[in-house]
Amino acid sequence: MSEKKKVTMDEIVSLCKRRGFIFPASEIYGGFANTFDYGPLGTALKNNIKSEWWKKFVTNRDDIVGLDSAIIQNPKIWKASGHTEQFVDWMVECDKCNSRHRVEDILSENEYSIKNDKCEISSQTKEEQICPSCKKVMDWEFFANPRSFNTMFKTFVGPTQEKDSVTYLRPETAQGIFTNFKNVIQSTRMKVPFGIAQIGKAFRNEITPGNFVFRTLEFEQAEIEYFVENNNQASQKHFKDWTDKTKKFFTDLGVKDENLSIREHDKDELSHYSIGTSDIEYEFPFGVSELAGIAQRTDFDLKQHEKFSKEDLKYKEEGKEPYIPYVVEPSFGITRALLAFLVDAFDKSDGSDGRADGEVTLRLHKSLAPIKVAVFPLMKKEGLPEKAKEIVKTLKNQNIEIYYDESGSVGKRYRRQDEIGTPWCITVDFDSLEKGDVTVRDRDTMEQERVKISELPRYFQEKLKN
Ligand code: GAP
Repeated sequence: MSEKKKVTMDEIVSLCKRRGFIFPASEIYGGFANTFDYGPLGTALKNNIKSEWWKKFVTNRDDIVGLDSAIIQNPKIWKASGHTEQFVDWMVECDKCNSRHRVEDILSENEYSIKNDKCEISSQTKEEQICPSCKKVMDWEFFANPRSFNTMFKTFVGPTQEKDSVTYLRPETAQGIFTNFKNVIQSTRMKVPFGIAQIGKAFRNEITPGNFVFRTLEFEQAEIEYFVENNNQASQKHFKDWTDKTKKFFTDLGVKDENLSIREHDKDELSHYSIGTSDIEYEFPFGVSELAGIAQRTDFDLKQHEKFSKEDLKYKEEGKEPYIPYVVEPSFGITRALLAFLVDAFDKSDGSDGRADGEVTLRLHKSLAPIKVAVFPLMKKEGLPEKAKEIVKTLKNQNIEIYYDESGSVGKRYRRQDEIGTPWCITVDFDSLEKGDVTVRDRDTMEQERVKISELPRYFQEKLKN
């Protein structure tokens, strides 16, 4: 059997633009590098990912509550969390073309180390370093002294742009959760172990953004800070559990298990707050890369906020000494996940499976598909459009995302819907007027069945059940 050809980033970018998933931002002004806007289908897909995550981890559980904290906060938060000092990337600049690169992108872990706020290139590292952009050899003196670069976006609050009006756009949603720990406990009486979940925008002035929406300056994160007893054993147990749960979130929504892997961070790779981190990696067209991260943040953040704010942030439970809980954090980028879902669902035919050569079917999970059902009148005459529009209205009243299309042949209309991942198409024909039934065609099996119009709401509610 011939091996299936992998999708390329060009194919994904082109589909996203053409069909209205993702557009380059500020396009009419020549664009704005590494920033994207989400079109009608992209917005729906992104909302569906968020809603599946929220349902699974907040609505359907008793031990996790939601939060929506501000993007711009008191800058003391970022001092306490360590981001002002530690949220840095190490960067080398090519002396030939002036392009900038993250050290971790061009050297392997044993070729450099970060000690005492300095990035040292190991003596074994070969001196002939090729610039990934211009492919010329970079000057060694230039290369061997990487510079640090804080990736938080600075901004000013108020009319004067002075030092004490500086603050930052949040680089992670997590800190809003830690700073509201006391408020949430007091208002909800949650008991350890419990979690606080948040979805929201985060911003990073990345040195090397790229690969479409994989690494952007502005993105959305879905994070849970899960508070557990203050010992390594509890932390380890929940860490393992959250690693499995996070991976399962993706496989339950159709991502193929063989495209996912778990990679534990080496000690010298860990963020300043973590005693153990695992990445869930995905096989993107540009290589295996991080999709989600699960970190054991211990009591680092709450302790830091207690120290800097002088507020008592201990957790109190009858019969126990007050303590600062440990934290396990599953985190991923919604927009990076969206890219993984698109890549995984992209299925281009080579002509051997009943589809024409080059035909694309986006095999998105039914819960994620931006449009669930498309309705076509067989022809634009003799009452067929009117009947089809009645069906559209009935299904819309059931909160089913629906699309009406009457242009082109039915075959073409099927292909247009396959390409954007619509799981079912309904065709209204002359028998529909006489016998009151329609053809429902399944995207994946391409099978067709006749269903009574009066049965359609129940039929689709059943199909859309998880
Ligand atoms: N609160 C922990 C935290 O922020 P992180 O590994 O820096 O940890 C978590 O980020 C997740 O956010 C990543 O696994 C990735 O999915 C996503 N992410 C990080 N930087 C991103 C960027 N520049 N563009 C898109 N997604 C990003």
